[in-house]
Amino acid sequence: HLKALIGPSILNADLSKLHEESQKLLDNGADYLHLDVMDGHFVPNLTFGHPVVKCLRGKIKEAFFETHMMVSKPEQWIAPMADAGVNQYTFHIEPVDNVADVCRKIKEHGMKVGVAIKPGTPVSEVEKYINIADMVLIMTVEPGFGGQKFMEDQMEKVKYLRENYPLLDIEVDGGVGPSTINCCAKAGANWIVSGTAVIGAADQSATIKLLRDTVHN
Ligand code: DX5
Ligand code: ZN
Repeated sequence: HLKALIGPSILNADLSKLHEESQKLLDNGADYLHLDVMDGHFVPNLTFGHPVVKCLRGKIKEAFFETHMMVSKPEQWIAPMADAGVNQYTFHIEPVDNVADVCRKIKEHGMKVGVAIKPGTPVSEVEKYINIADMVLIMTVEPGFGGQKFMEDQMEKVKYLRENYPLLDIEVDGGVGPSTINCCAKAGANWIVSGTAVIGAADQSATIKLLRDTVHN
């Protein structure tokens, strides 16, 4: 039985209080932190990079940090993110020529590897790398912004992967919350990113628990 893990995205939190907001999520039961890194080029938005992640690591020693690299040159940030204390480096394969090389380099830097695809990218593109990656991220919105509508049609990809790779860690990201978690759980996702639904919840701890329990059942 695969482990259900809930990784809130702090993208839509008050980023002037990054440490407090992150600690609060962890205290409320988050299994890991999903840190959205955008370069204004691969996606039409900017967030933060390794200097900010390093400062956060300075305050939060134990938590598992996943960086979701929505950047045109993922190979460029591997060493700085490893140095910043990142545990898993999840990157989009779309702009990369040699995905296997990037995976290898991430592992050499002591991080786990996640490979991500946008909604328009066929699952067969990422399937090629399952043997060398630790996790696959199926985006359920167009990357770039929090608070968008969940794309249910992406569940076909999740179902396909779960049927063919029973032990694979599959992450979903974008528009996931109490009203869409059933879909994700049924399709077979087990790493759950949730941004606005958790950040904006009146009871963060209850929301995180509900997401986890839905995936477990
Ligand atoms: C979108 C990001 C997501 C997003 C999640 O580009 O990768 O992690 O912030 O936020 P919600 O859950 O609000 O869609
Ligand atoms: Zn993300």
